[in-house]
Amino acid sequence: MIVLGIESTAHTFGIGIVDERLRVLADVRKQYAPKSGGILPREVAPFFSRSAAQALREALEEARISVREVDAVAVALGPGMGPQLRVGASVARALASHYAKPLVPVNHAVAHIEVARWSTGLKDPIALYVAGGNTAVISYAEERYRVFGETLDIPLGNLLDTFAREVGIAPPYVKGGKHAVDICAEGGDFLEGMPYVVKGQDSSFSGLLTAALRMVERGARLSDVCFTLREIAYSSVVEVLERGLALTGKREVVLTGGVAASSLLNEKISLMASLHGAAFRPIPREYSGDNGVMIALTGVAALKWGQTVSPSEALVRQRWRIDQVKIPWYYEFPW
Ligand code: FE2
Repeated sequence: MIVLGIESTAHTFGIGIVDERLRVLADVRKQYAPKSGGILPREVAPFFSRSAAQALREALEEARISVREVDAVAVALGPGMGPQLRVGASVARALASHYAKPLVPVNHAVAHIEVARWSTGLKDPIALYVAGGNTAVISYAEERYRVFGETLDIPLGNLLDTFAREVGIAPPYVKGGKHAVDICAEGGDFLEGMPYVVKGQDSSFSGLLTAALRMVERGARLSDVCFTLREIAYSSVVEVLERGLALTGKREVVLTGGVAASSLLNEKISLMASLHGAAFRPIPREYSGDNGVMIALTGVAALKWGQTVSPSEALVRQRWRIDQVKIPWYYEFPW
């Protein structure tokens, strides 16, 4: 069985091809990098449309197969940005109907956790999912991934990216395990007066962003502001993760999503996990950000358990929550 997975929720148009034994046959990514500012869906979606055919050709070449040898098409239908999601969904619907292949709808957040389980070998972890568009602590219970805590406003990745852009240290994207804010934080000291907000099990970062920008305006040393912002942001998600670990009694921890490329966040989580005697293994950097492989991997599992839809039902769901998806393959994955 060969599954082709399509990712198009944010800035990456990805095609991954995976076989039944969860071996990667192809991993092609076309990444949109804005020249300035954030991701504008109206600019990214046309880039995806222009890149899709080439990405598909490259992926099939890499896997050394023809499209007829693909047994099913999996596609991330949400959560994500509408215009980009619609490009991936259109490509998936066209392939599935033209070649009469089953179509497997995949939740992007579920896929981030499945790729973490597959690549780390941790079977039943509590997960911290942090990216430009999401921040949540998630663990499995009774057929579903449950959200233990999440951000009440902006995601952590968005906090770092927006701050970096506003103070002119862009491009903010994580390179080699360091975000622009990490580099700026070197040599910085902790400043008093920035808000650390954890309400119940949820984090909040918009007040922190405003406070940090105000401090820069008032002439605070940029490295101090970067250092404080990052320490507060990382510590608050690690606190929620630690509570989740204690409460759920899980023995394993994973970190996934774009911000999982941060070596510092990995260090903090590794330390926290070891204090609780829990296992932690970092996800390989290539699988922290968005990619088609994670959609294909999840697609293989979903297909085995019969989660398919007809092309006319494969509609995008921008706010598709992770806890709306049944995960009947949980204890068997990865095989
Ligand atoms: Fe993502």
